[in-house]
Amino acid sequence: MVELRKAKPEDRDTLTALLWENEMEYVDPVEHYVLAVDDKEIMGCGRSEDYEVMVMIRPVVVSRKYRRQGIGRLLLKGIMPADRPTVLVARRESLEFYEASGFSKAKWEMMPPTQQGECTSCPHRIECRPQPMICNLGSRG
Ligand SMILES: CC(C)(COP(=O)(O)OP(=O)(O)OC[C@H]1O[C@@H](n2cnc3c(N)ncnc32)[C@H](O)[C@@H]1OP(=O)(O)O)[C@@H](O)C(=O)NCCC(=O)NCCS
Repeated sequence: MVELRKAKPEDRDTLTALLWENEMEYVDPVEHYVLAVDDKEIMGCGRSEDYEVMVMIRPVVVSRKYRRQGIGRLLLKGIMPADRPTVLVARRESLEFYEASGFSKAKWEMMPPTQQGECTSCPHRIECRPQPMICNLGSRG
């Protein structure tokens, strides 16, 4: 059975490897990650940043062998707030996933300024084709 739980210090190496496989960097503290786990292994992770008026997801990742089984959607539900909008910058390859999960395209101005700057100066911008997105519904929507 798949469960969500907060990451612990002993999960750090596996978490770092999962993120690395997807060209993403691990960011401390480990407790800010929520994991989707079964009794054997970590299947995916999600992390959000609190900006008071909104929450930003950075990132949601599911291990390749567990994709298209609803785990990404489960992680989203687990980290989205019920009472505030959620924003994120999607890689173009994950656009359909976020649209299927209730997000729509947004303007760059709606993203936290630090994120705008990071994407503008990122060397992977061309292949990534970042797309700002927003969901106003909350996790119970
Ligand atoms: C994006 C990602 C997190 C989706 O995780 P997932 O567990 O496979 O997603 P789910 O199974 O919960 O998908 C929910 C719905 O999203 C849509 N969806 C998910 N992946 C899709 C894809 N590759 N193409 C089209 N639609 C997709 C489908 O509608 C799907 O429902 P369905 O399977 O019943 O048709 C996963 O593909 C991933 O880790 N990608 C690499 C990392 C990444 O790009 N993360 C996002 C950047 S922040």
